[in-house]
Amino acid sequence: MYIHILTLFPNMFTGPFSESIIKRAIDRGLVEIAIHNIRDYTADRHHVVDDSPYGGGPGMVLKPEPLFEAVAAIKSEWSKCGESEKGESELPVLLLTPQGRLFDQRAAEELAEYDELILICGHYEGVDERVREHLVTDEISIGDYILSGGELAAMVVVDAMVRQLPGALGSGESVGEDSHSSGLLEYPQYTRPQSFRGWEVPEVLLSGNHAAIARWRREQSLRRTIRRRPDLLERAALSDEERRLVAQMEREED
Ligand code: ADE
Repeated sequence: MYIHILTLFPNMFTGPFSESIIKRAIDRGLVEIAIHNIRDYTADRHHVVDDSPYGGGPGMVLKPEPLFEAVAAIKSEWSKCGESEKGESELPVLLLTPQGRLFDQRAAEELAEYDELILICGHYEGVDERVREHLVTDEISIGDYILSGGELAAMVVVDAMVRQLPGALGSGESVGEDSHSSGLLEYPQYTRPQSFRGWEVPEVLLSGNHAAIARWRREQSLRRTIRRRPDLLERAALSDEERRLVAQMEREED
């Protein structure tokens, strides 16, 4: 996978992309991440990237020219992405913005299918609307709060995508059992010691009975999801028996 990030603050990415799973995925050649400084695509002597909004109001707005220039340069110099029948590049251009569609596990899985994409980190009061209308193919928000810029959001999106790539996780790590991958929250986990300050690991986990353990975990996942995130249950893939169990648990919770 090839990820291009357009940002005014390239240094912000240094730490997070040189540790842990992302670093390993880069080292293994599963993903290449190119950080492009938006300022490098300005044409004026002072490298101006923002200006005050037409109509007045506080703050600054990201100018369209550097972003259009940057995307054009990436498409012509870097991109290996194909073209549509009309000769247009099919490279997805995503803008990180609190106005975008909410990013979730399903979006992470969907985006991880692309071979290549561009992430634009918005800043200031926003970006010129023509960027949204004529450059960007999708807008992504990582949650209903306002960050100082799109950089942290881009890191979140990259992390969630990269861990989906085949081979990104070590042999002991699994995407499949993560919270949310099944649409449910994860079951409780325990490790040694068996007894810690008088708090015991649940008996069933010590039983060696794999079927009983699997059943207990699924029930715990369901119960936890009912209590903490009942909104997730509607979309979760549940068997008829699990639906009945959920109905019973919901009655017990009342
Ligand atoms: N930029 C600022 N806030 C954001 C958010 N919540 N998600 C994505 N990009 C952002």
